[in-house]
Amino acid sequence: MQDFQYQNGQLFCEGVALSDIAQQVGTPFFAYSHRALTRQIRAYKEAFSEVPHLIAFAVKANANIAVLKLFGNESGGADIVSGGELYRALAAGIDPQKLVFAGVGKTKEEMTAALQAGILMFNIESSQELIALDEAAKTLGVQAPVALRVNPNVNPETHPYISTGLKKSKFGIDIEKAVSEYQLAARLSHIEVVGIHSHIGSQLTQVKPFVDALQLISDMIDRLRAQNLDIRHWDIGGGLGITYDSENPPLPKEMADAILPLLKKSGCNIILEPGRSLAGNAGVLVTRVIYTKEGEAKSFVVVDAGMNDLIRPSLYQAYHAIRPIVEHSRPEKVVDVVGPICESGDFLAQERALPEMKSGELLAVMSAGAYAFTMSSNYNARPRPAEILVHDTSFDIIRARETMDDLLRGERIPEILNTPGH
Ligand code: LLP
Repeated sequence: MQDFQYQNGQLFCEGVALSDIAQQVGTPFFAYSHRALTRQIRAYKEAFSEVPHLIAFAVKANANIAVLKLFGNESGGADIVSGGELYRALAAGIDPQKLVFAGVGKTKEEMTAALQAGILMFNIESSQELIALDEAAKTLGVQAPVALRVNPNVNPETHPYISTGLKKSKFGIDIEKAVSEYQLAARLSHIEVVGIHSHIGSQLTQVKPFVDALQLISDMIDRLRAQNLDIRHWDIGGGLGITYDSENPPLPKEMADAILPLLKKSGCNIILEPGRSLAGNAGVLVTRVIYTKEGEAKSFVVVDAGMNDLIRPSLYQAYHAIRPIVEHSRPEKVVDVVGPICESGDFLAQERALPEMKSGELLAVMSAGAYAFTMSSNYNARPRPAEILVHDTSFDIIRARETMDDLLRGERIPEILNTPGH
C-alpha cells in the first residue's frame, strides 16, 4: 500500500496525515487514495493495451459515485449486479455503453431499467432469465444484447464463499449445456447474442486458474462461431487478488501476459471486471481506540469500528493488517481488536501483535478499499462511517457520516400504535 506511508512518525494517505482527517471528520472513516485508484486502473489499461478492451469496475467492491466517476474519467466502465448499481453507475456519469449487467436473479424491472438505459451487455445465467429478458425487451420493442455466463468448472483455489466457477456453484451455465442455451438465445426474437462471459472467483493469487478457464472458453467461442453465433465481446470477469498479508498475487501485466495470446486470437473486444484489485489496497478504515481491556485469557483493544463497518474478518476470517496512526516504540502485545457490537464475532483482528495501544489513539485497518463500505450495515443502530477521497495534499468527503435521522429514514409509527388500548 505505497500510498499509505509513515512520514515523521505519522501515517499519511498521499500528502495528508490520517490524524488530520480524523480531527476534522471524526472516526471511524474510510479514506481512499486518488493516486492509488488511478495507478491501478492505468496498470490494467497498459497491460491490456494490445487488445480492444473495457475495464468494467465491479461496483460491488466500492460503489461510491466519486470512485465510479474517477474510473469513468480513466475511460472505465462498470460491472453492475442490481438496479441499484445501475442507478449508481448512471449517477456517476458512466457511459451506458460501458455497463455490463451480471447476477443470477435480475428481475424484469431491473432488466427493463437497464434496457431503457441502453447498456452494453447482459450476462445471463439461466434459461428462465433469458426468457424473462426476451419478454422485457419485446415489451419495450428493443433487442437485448446478451452474453451467457459460462461456468468452466475450474477451481480458483480461493475461499469457498468467493469461489464461483465450480459445478456446485449457483453461478453460470454448465459448460456442457452452454451450446444448447446459446441455441435457445438465438431463437428468441428479442435477444441478440453478442458475447460470452465467465468469472471463476475472487482473490485469486495464481494465474493458472485464469488460463485454464479462459482456454475452455476460447474453445467454446470456436464452437459457437461454428454455429454462426456472433461472439464479439469476451468478458473474462474479475478475480485478481491483492496482498492483505503475505499473498503474492500476479500483477495485471502478469495476468495479461499469460492470457493475451488467447484473447488476441479471438479478435474479440475484451471486457474485464476487476473489483478488489482496483480498489482494495487504495483504502483504509481509520478507527479510534475506545478502551483497552484485560480479559482472563486475552487482551482486547476495543475500537469504534465494528463488524457493521467491516464484516470481512467476521464473515471470512479475512486478515486485514492493522497499523497505529502514530508510530511508537512501545513493546508489542498480542491482542484482539474488537468493535462495540454485541456479538462475539465482532472483531477486526484476533491474536494480533500490536504495539501497546492506549485509549483515544488511532488505528488504520489496511486494505479496506474493496468489499468494506459496500458490505457495511446499520446493525446495532450504528450510523455508517464517512468516506473520504484523498488527492495529493487535500481531501474531500465523498459520503457524509450517517446521522441519527438517517437511521430512522422511512420508518413510521402507525396510527394504531398511538391509539390507547393497542
Ligand atoms: N465479476 C463478477 C461476476 C463477480 O461476481 C465479481 C465478484 C467480480 C466481477 C469482481 O471480483 P474481484 O475482481 O473483486 O475479485 N465480498 C467478498 C468478495 C465477493 C466477490 C463477489 N463477486 C470479499 O469481501 O472478499
